[in-house]
Amino acid sequence: MQIVAICSQKGGSGKTTLSGHLAVQAHLAGDGPVAVVDCDPQGSLAAWWNARQIPGPDFARTTLGSLEDDLGRLRARGFRYLFVDTPPAASAAIARVMHFADLILVPTRPSPHDLRAVRATLDLAERAGRSLVFVVNGANARSRLTTDAAVALSQYGTVAPVLVTHKIVMASSMIDGRTVMETHPDSPSAQEIVTLWSYVRDRLVKIANREAFLRRRVVPAGFGRRQITGEEVPEVGTLGEVA
Ligand SMILES: Nc1ncnc2c1ncn2[C@@H]1O[C@H](COP(=O)(O)OP(=O)(O)OP(=O)(O)O)[C@@H](O)[C@H]1O
Ligand SMILES: [Mg+2]
Repeated sequence: MQIVAICSQKGGSGKTTLSGHLAVQAHLAGDGPVAVVDCDPQGSLAAWWNARQIPGPDFARTTLGSLEDDLGRLRARGFRYLFVDTPPAASAAIARVMHFADLILVPTRPSPHDLRAVRATLDLAERAGRSLVFVVNGANARSRLTTDAAVALSQYGTVAPVLVTHKIVMASSMIDGRTVMETHPDSPSAQEIVTLWSYVRDRLVKIANREAFLRRRVVPAGFGRRQITGEEVPEVGTLGEVA
């Protein structure tokens, strides 16, 4: 099971929207079983899921205190991907979720306020030692601010090569527990999410491959063979790389 944590210290950046959309897209793409987890006391993702009439993805109830045990149980139940929505501002809660994440997605709006808040989220991810990808959300593809934001973010780390544009259907689709892929399957917004999930899935595969490689890295002592250390292995999906 791989865990995708959607985190940003900044409120309203699109964490819940992207958590629900990516989980549904992973499910629709046949990449499941998929579950969502809501670690935000506001409970927006849980409320969205409760309104959902369509089967999949599953919802896993947990608390920050029981997170580790619950993740073990979900792993044993055979979930392949877990999407964890997190609260804004609450550093301790975000750090706790990041600790268990295989990949951290940081939705960031192309606004000076969001960009200024990036450093705090980045510090938490660096402390957790986890791979991180920025997702520009609420973008206007024709706006200079959007381009500037993507460039600015690329100085901090990997930026997903797809912009999630600001579209009313992204918000309205979630009213009754659906997503834009279900309400407007032929829309550009739906296509953005399809492309975003495909990109995120590729990164997760690379991370899994790298972890499998690192697990095998201790080579039994033998003449002419040496032990490969983690530092020698090329980093995949870590900070400082532009996609
Ligand atoms: N790409 C988008 N296009 C249009 N509206 C969007 C988009 N992304 C998010 N929104 C809307 O912006 C608002 C904030 O989004 P969302 O709730 O996902 O952010 P959040 O980061 O989870 O917020 P919080 O920090 O409060 O948990 C919501 O009303 C949502 O519907
Ligand atoms: Mg939210």
